[in-house]
This record gives sequence, structure tokens and C-alpha cells, in this order.
Amino acid sequence: MQIIITKSADETHLVGKNYAKENIRTNNIIGLYGPLGSGKTVFTKGIASYFNVKDIVNSPTFIISNEYKGIDPINNKEVTIIHFDFYRINKTDELYSIGFQEYFNRKNSIFIIEWPELAEEFIGKKIKKVEFLYGKTKNQRIIKY
Ligand SMILES: Nc1ncnc2c1ncn2[C@@H]1O[C@H](COP(=O)(O)OP(=O)(O)OP(=O)(O)O)[C@@H](O)[C@H]1O
Ligand SMILES: [Mg+2]
Repeated sequence: MQIIITKSADETHLVGKNYAKENIRTNNIIGLYGPLGSGKTVFTKGIASYFNVKDIVNSPTFIISNEYKGIDPINNKEVTIIHFDFYRINKTDELYSIGFQEYFNRKNSIFIIEWPELAEEFIGKKIKKVEFLYGKTKNQRIIKY
């Protein structure tokens, strides 16, 4: 397990970018665990930057999922980053009603899930987990994977 302490949002962004390079392959599902404001979206922006995403990456809190087109630097092929945020989902029924499982049949995609706890019932074994914690000072975050 890697345990990394960052001292700024920029550092967490870079950790996300490096994580993508070292760990993410097409069709992976990445689960980002941790409290509000702990850096999950900043880390996602870092992942997106590795895949050369030009769109603005924001938390999809109100619309459940965002999609960004990028390029996989390994083969120069197009890849779609599908970014979920299940913070406002209360029951697994609600995941069914958004057709959550069908997303994972999509090819050439990478799935990033903030607040993935409710999704574990369906895809738990496939989730690559990244955990975020607050550190000792205001701008410190601990990232574990
Ligand atoms: N070391 C750090 N790493 C990441 N973010 C930091 C750090 N220090 C301060 N911040 C700030 O903390 C906030 C992290 O916000 P972010 O949206 O990434 O959190 P989140 O985990 O996605 O929260 P939410 O569950 O609400 O979606 C940003 O405002 C960022 O500037
Ligand atoms: Mg977020």
C-alpha cells in the first residue's frame, strides 16, 4: 500500500496524475473514498490531466455523472472518463434507476466514482480503492491506495 501526504491541492493533483500513469488501465473502476473536501475531485482532475482531457472537470454532484473525452498516452486512442458522484444517492434502488450497471459495458472507458459505498454491492470486487483523509494541518491530505 502507498501512503502519500500532500500539502496542497496542486500536490494532490499531481498524485492523481501519477496514480493514473502507474495504476489505471482502460475499463478500470476507481473508487475514491473520503469525507467532503478531502480531495477526491482534485485527484480526479489529476487523472483527467494524464489522459489529456481538455474539458473542465468538476464534481458531478447534482447530475450523478460527467463524461470527458481524453487520449490514452499509452496507445494514443480515445478514452472516455466517466466520473460519478454518489453523495446524494441514498439507496441502491436509485443506482438501478440511473442504469448504473449498463455504464460498465462501455468500451474504452475509465470509471471514477466519488462516494462509491453504495456501488460496492454491484461492483465491489472490481473497485480499485483510493482513500482520502484529512491530515494534521488545514492543507494536508493523506492519500492511500
Ligand atoms: N492537500 C490538498 N489536497 C487536495 N485538496 C486540498 C488540499 N489542501 C487544500 N485543499 C482544498 O480542499 C478542497 C478539496 O476539494 P475536492 O472538491 O477535491 O473534495 P472532494 O473530496 O471531492 O469533496 P466532495 O465529497 O464534496 O466532492 C479544495 O478546495 C482544495 O483547494
Ligand atoms: Mg468531489
